[in-house]
Amino acid sequence: MHGSANHTSNILVAGTVVGFYFLFLIKFSTAGRIYNVVDYQAVGDGTIDDSQAFMKAWSAACSDAIPATLLVPPGKKFLIGTATSLQGPCNSPVNFQIDGNITAPNRIWTTERITWISFNNINNLNVYGQGTIDGQGAIWWDYFVHYSYVCSSQLIDFDGCNNLALSNITLMNGPRRHLAFHQCTHLTVKGITITAPGDSPNTDGINIADSQNINITGSTFAIGDDCIAISSGTSNVSISNMTCGPSHGISIGSLGRGGTVAEVEQIHVFNSNIFHSMTGVRIKTWQGGSGYVKDVTFERINITQVATPIVINQFYTDYSSPASKEDAVAISNVKFMNIQGTSTKKTAVCIQCSAAVPCTNLTFDTVTLARDEGDNRTVSATIENAYGMSEGITIPHISLSKKIA
Ligand SMILES: *[C@@H]1O[C@H](CO)[C@@H](O)[C@H](O)[C@H]1NC(C)=O
Ligand SMILES: *[C@@H]1O[C@H](CO)[C@@H](O)[C@H](O)[C@H]1NC(C)=O
Ligand SMILES: *[C@@H]1O[C@H](CO)[C@@H](O)[C@H](O)[C@H]1NC(C)=O
Ligand SMILES: *[C@@H]1O[C@H](CO)[C@@H](O)[C@H](O)[C@H]1NC(C)=O
Ligand SMILES: *[C@@H]1O[C@H](CO)[C@@H](O)[C@H](O)[C@H]1NC(C)=O
Ligand SMILES: *[C@@H]1O[C@H](CO)[C@@H](O)[C@H](O)[C@H]1NC(C)=O
Ligand SMILES: *[C@@H]1O[C@H](CO)[C@@H](O)[C@H](O)[C@H]1NC(C)=O
Ligand SMILES: *[C@@H]1O[C@H](CO)[C@@H](O)[C@H](O)[C@H]1NC(C)=O
Repeated sequence: MHGSANHTSNILVAGTVVGFYFLFLIKFSTAGRIYNVVDYQAVGDGTIDDSQAFMKAWSAACSDAIPATLLVPPGKKFLIGTATSLQGPCNSPVNFQIDGNITAPNRIWTTERITWISFNNINNLNVYGQGTIDGQGAIWWDYFVHYSYVCSSQLIDFDGCNNLALSNITLMNGPRRHLAFHQCTHLTVKGITITAPGDSPNTDGINIADSQNINITGSTFAIGDDCIAISSGTSNVSISNMTCGPSHGISIGSLGRGGTVAEVEQIHVFNSNIFHSMTGVRIKTWQGGSGYVKDVTFERINITQVATPIVINQFYTDYSSPASKEDAVAISNVKFMNIQGTSTKKTAVCIQCSAAVPCTNLTFDTVTLARDEGDNRTVSATIENAYGMSEGITIPHISLSKKIA
């Protein structure tokens, strides 16, 4: 199913479009037709806007009766000059093979909060290739710092996509977050790379919302915000073999903003490295929200020079809209196991839960952290309103009451 661009031969096809007869070349492969964006007048010089050509090639591939490949060929740089939406449903599965580069304009091209390239309502889409997608974010980060009200574009968004696979592609320098998944099920992400400077604002790697049955593995993130952020409506997520840093770590949340109901469960993060980051593994919820986060395991995580490696914060707040401390997203059944490494701050573990809705059934099992440098490498833990147990060695010492008194 992958790499179907082999065995190509050219065939001549005649067709009719809005009353005009025309002839054009279509490449054919053993796994179906290959729709090369260049055959749809994409130029690939980095200057001419190729978005219309991409739309036409997409529409052709998506309406093919048998599985097709949309090809972005290597050795070229295609400018997508405006917000571009690739719509489904398609008639058959589509491979989107990105071997060339795709770039956003190097200017402020929108004043709306918008998505640069969006994929909507597509089933059985496989995106892969050696290409790099460059969001040209630097100009936006400057704007953000100087005029934080400026709206910017998120790079790529998949909305309503089922049986979606992404592999090997590289995304860089998003104006804001790089990849967003919304209302997607059966999603596999493997071997992708996302990079932006460590101080670039709001450049999350992946954000997942309202999605289920997700497997993210072997991927690398070096960005200015969360490597992966998990939002409400998300369940059954496996994240493994991740390389994350610099970043703000991996985060469940923030959840429950503005009094909303959040539901997140069955999240498993394992066999991963997090380094040079603000936090390591984190759950953050806003005051005044409701709902739950439950059945979360972080295990076999290697931490290097992270300011605060383990965080639960139920007190996220925004002074412009103070909310009741009586309500909170409930957090339970969370396990931190085999987490080792170094923190740059003394308080390496920071668990701050609300008195009204305490965190319950937390487990710490074999957590060993130390200050990364200095004469006294002792670390400490802050624990508020949290219940559960510790097993194995935990450094810092973490002692939880078993039950709510
Ligand atoms: C594609 O992007 C990569 C990474 O930035 C770069 O090394 C390569 O030279 C680019 N190729 C083209 C044809 O622009
Ligand atoms: C991704 O890259 C790996 C390693 O180069 C390769 O084995 C795999 O076939 C690639 N996957 C796809 C879908 O191209
Ligand atoms: C969880 O997601 C995986 C795919 O990542 C899937 O194979 C598995 O069946 C799902 N489990 C449940 C309980 O839905
Ligand atoms: C996730 O994908 C990896 C690599 O394809 C596979 O080894 C692993 O079993 C998958 N995990 C789940 C939970 O589906
Ligand atoms: C994760 O990495 C380990 C060690 O490099 C490797 O043995 C394993 O196959 C990888 N698993 C996946 C699902 O990529
Ligand atoms: C943990 O991270 C350090 C520094 O990044 C690295 O040297 C070490 O090999 C990693 N250990 C594992 C088990 O990945
Ligand atoms: C406590 O959490 C663990 C997972 O960390 C789970 O296996 C166990 O069933 C939970 N216990 C209760 C009473 O919910
Ligand atoms: C290191 O710091 C901890 C906490 O600040 C303190 O309790 C301990 O006595 C210090 N150890 C040494 C050897 O100074």
